Amino acid sequence: MTQDELKEAVARAALSHIVEGQIVGVGTGSTARKFIDALAEIKDRIPGAIASSEDTRKRLESHGIRVFDLDDIAKLPVYIDGADEIAPGMHMTKGGGGALTREKIVAAVAEKFVCIVDRTKFVDNLGKFPLPVEIIPMARAHVARQLVRLGGNPVLREGFTTDNGNLILDVGGLDIRDPVNLETQINQIAGVVSNGLFACRPADICLLGTENGVRTLTRNAET
Ligand code: A5P
Repeated sequence: MTQDELKEAVARAALSHIVEGQIVGVGTGSTARKFIDALAEIKDRIPGAIASSEDTRKRLESHGIRVFDLDDIAKLPVYIDGADEIAPGMHMTKGGGGALTREKIVAAVAEKFVCIVDRTKFVDNLGKFPLPVEIIPMARAHVARQLVRLGGNPVLREGFTTDNGNLILDVGGLDIRDPVNLETQINQIAGVVSNGLFACRPADICLLGTENGVRTLTRNAET
């Protein structure tokens, strides 16, 4: 199976986690886009969705799926999104598409986070994929210096502005053996809006696309 077919399989499998009659949170990226296309087929069973980016909002609306404001909803049973890396503890690196901050906000509200990835994203330890950090533009040099002090090698994502009008530093070389601690430490740097470690709020379930079908993983276990 191609990587694209594996993404499609997990996107479809995620439909079984939707709660009928309830709004669903929708992530960003190529796997999330496949999920949106699958969601369109059952759109009559949900009132609508919360979008984690402008790209996602546009695609949902193009399918006639109503997009709600996060402030207007009282409950979000499930959030479905991809990841750039996910480890057995369900900690993730996200933000390859630059939507990390809104993704983190929606994930924080959701009762359940379902991560949908193809097998190439499942790793023993996070860190090969450079960690995206969203920053306020005027803090660029300061944040970069602090990230170097943490052992990282920050590189500005050229020509890219987030949906929030900010910049992204992609940080290679970090030791991410303690993702909860590193996520917290980076968030303490003045000028950081958020970082792509999803460790304080990890996924609850990972649907992993493999040649042998979609596997359902939870923290350090397979169900
Ligand atoms: C978007 O900002 C990211 O967090 C995506 O969720 C992540 O990069 C996965 O994207 P793909 O499904 O395109 O690999």
